[in-house]
Amino acid sequence: MDRLEQLARIGAGPGGGVTRAGLGRAEQHACELVASWMAEAGLEVSWDAAGNLFGRRRGVDPDAPEVWSGSHLDTVPGGGRFDGALGVLAALAAARRLAGEELRATLAVCVFRDEEGYRFGRGVFGSRFVCGRLCEADLDLTDEEGTSVRAALSALGFTGLRGPRAPLPGRFVEVHVEQGPVLERAGAPLAVVTSITGMAGFVVRFHGESGHAGTLPMAGRRDAFLAAASFALALRDEALRMGEVVATVGDVRIADAASNVVPGRVEVTVDVRAPTTAALTAIAAAVRRLAESAGAEIDEVSFDPPVPLSPVVQEALREAALAEGVPTPAFGSGAGHDAGILAAAGVEAGMLFVRSRNGGVSHRPEELSDRDDIVAAVAVLTGALRALCGSIA
Ligand code: HGY
Ligand code: MN
Ligand code: MN
Repeated sequence: MDRLEQLARIGAGPGGGVTRAGLGRAEQHACELVASWMAEAGLEVSWDAAGNLFGRRRGVDPDAPEVWSGSHLDTVPGGGRFDGALGVLAALAAARRLAGEELRATLAVCVFRDEEGYRFGRGVFGSRFVCGRLCEADLDLTDEEGTSVRAALSALGFTGLRGPRAPLPGRFVEVHVEQGPVLERAGAPLAVVTSITGMAGFVVRFHGESGHAGTLPMAGRRDAFLAAASFALALRDEALRMGEVVATVGDVRIADAASNVVPGRVEVTVDVRAPTTAALTAIAAAVRRLAESAGAEIDEVSFDPPVPLSPVVQEALREAALAEGVPTPAFGSGAGHDAGILAAAGVEAGMLFVRSRNGGVSHRPEELSDRDDIVAAVAVLTGALRALCGSIA
């Protein structure tokens, strides 16, 4: 808990939230602090070319596929102190508890870079690198200041795609706050996650005609912001009609924005999610249709179908929880996670959710999980990792 507080001070903002943008200085500072804790725990610290951080405990069988556990340390702007950081610290705590026990497979505590993705427009950067899914175009993405991923990486001393990439692990376990109300309503501390939602991302650009806010008559205006606004409202209505999907316009940028200028060019991000590939395809088609009828340009940034999580890892988590006397409901994740990228790459990946309080709010300073639930999660993760690594009794 003290280490969660220490991490929360890195990127702490006035409203109590935490801001650590992907591939930025604050995220790097948080990684370096965790690297020092890994070294203190006697783990073998290493960084890969994308800036992902690893702390390894060698197993007795060098040929056994590794087992990784961890999460991310970047946050959304004004985010909570548990999203990502809890999974990293839980894995570190479990690795410390397993010290002294002989494990068959090597255990690695890992930190994946830029999971949130809002700075450059595409997330799960570090986990996509380890899965070999990055291409040069990913390094050309730029942030609001025009800094590219490539430049951000080299400013932190990382070489980008050309550097070494660790072989994928056999198994991966991520502890993460639920970021929803299910466990709080059920009165349960932990859940085993069965799948990761399908997600698709777009950028939609509206072109109107800018002009003087005072002298341009209302009749005949081609206000790009109003075009974007009616697109967003129509998308909201479509998502409500479809029922099992969610759709969000979370970032709106007016070019040359000024209070006394009618918006001429507006760019919005679209984030849609669905529990099935069919529903994701349908809502993605609706996004394209609405953009087209608005005369807007559209770029598809990402399309990741829903992915089931490993039954082997789910079973190990459930068994470990039973051994701790903790019942664990099982349900799918509406949030995206690095575990979803590894699972889609064929890694036996699983997740353990920790109850979120305050109605399950997340991506806000009010994000909260209890110490007792966190202690239970570390105990369950330790038992599951012992089983998944194979202990040499
Ligand atoms: O957006 C998500 O689902 C995650 O928090 N990056
Ligand atoms: Mn998040
Ligand atoms: Mn997260």
